Amino acid sequence: MHDFDLVVVGSANADLVIGVERRPAAGETVLGSDLAVHPGGKGANQAVAAARLGARTALLARIGDDDHGRLLLDSQHKAGVDTAGVLVGGAPTGVALITVDPSGDNSIVVSPGANAELTPADVRAAAGLLRSARVVSTQLEIPLETVQEVVRNLVPGNRFVLNPSPPRPLPQDLLAAADPLIVNEHEAHVLLGDSAGATPEDWATALLALGPGSVVITLGAHGALVADAAGMERVPAVQVRAVDTTGAGDAFTAALAWRLALSEPLSTAAAYAARVAALAVTKAGAQESYPTAREIAAD
Ligand code: RIB
Repeated sequence: MHDFDLVVVGSANADLVIGVERRPAAGETVLGSDLAVHPGGKGANQAVAAARLGARTALLARIGDDDHGRLLLDSQHKAGVDTAGVLVGGAPTGVALITVDPSGDNSIVVSPGANAELTPADVRAAAGLLRSARVVSTQLEIPLETVQEVVRNLVPGNRFVLNPSPPRPLPQDLLAAADPLIVNEHEAHVLLGDSAGATPEDWATALLALGPGSVVITLGAHGALVADAAGMERVPAVQVRAVDTTGAGDAFTAALAWRLALSEPLSTAAAYAARVAALAVTKAGAQESYPTAREIAAD
C-alpha cells in the first residue's frame, strides 16, 4: 500500500516576476510592470500541480525561515500537499527573478539559497517517505548528488520521473533510473550535444539509448512525443492563448506523474498532462495558474 501517489523532491523558490514589453539585451535597461511575488520553484510547483488535480502528494524540499518560505508553505498547504518533509533553515529561501513578455514567454534566473542545502543526508532521513510513494519525481534545482541519493533510495514499486531542468550532462545511473525522462527541446540538446539529430524522433531515439525506461519530449505548441521500447507516439497540443508560460512544464510533469501513478499508459498520461499544461499557461504565475481536476473535466 502506498500512502502517496507522488513524492516530489526538489526546489522551492519565491518567484519575483516583472512583465516586460521585451527582454533587455546585454547592457540595456528596460522598464517593466509592478513587481509580483508568487510561490514557485520547480519542485514546489510540481507538488502543488499534482495536489490540485487530486493526487496524494508530499514534498521534500528546503526553505529558509523567512517570509518567502512562509509564502511557499502556505501555498503547499492550500493545495493539500503533505509538508512533513519540508525542512526549514540553513539559508534564505531560493529566489527566481523572472521576466514575462506579452507572448507569455519567460526568462528565469534562480538564486538557489536553501535549495542548495538539501543534502543527500536529508534524502536518507526521508527514505520512508520515498518508499511510501508510487511515483517519485525530481528536477535539477537541487544538488546533483542529492538527486542521485534519491535514486539510491528507490525501492521496487517506486517509479522515478526526472525532469532535468535546468539541464546539465547527467551520470548514467541517473538517466537509467528515469521512467520517463521528461525534456523539452533545449534540455534534449544539452543532454545529447552534437549527436542530437534533426527531429524529435531522432532526439527520442538518442535519449532512449542513454538508458531511461521511457522518454517524453515536450514540444510547446506542437504537443509532445512519448517513446519507449515499444515505439513512439505524438501527443497533440491543446491550443490556447498564452498569458504566462511560467511553470507550465512543471504542471505537465506533475500531471503525467500522477496519471502514471494511476497506472495509465504513457501516451494517455501525456495527453492528460498536455491539457493541464495548456490551462496553466492561460493564467499568470506558476502555482496560482494550476487547474483542479474539476476545471480539467469542465474544459
Ligand atoms: O519552472 C518554473 C519555475 O522555475 C519557476 O517557478 C521558478 O521558481 C524556477 O524554478
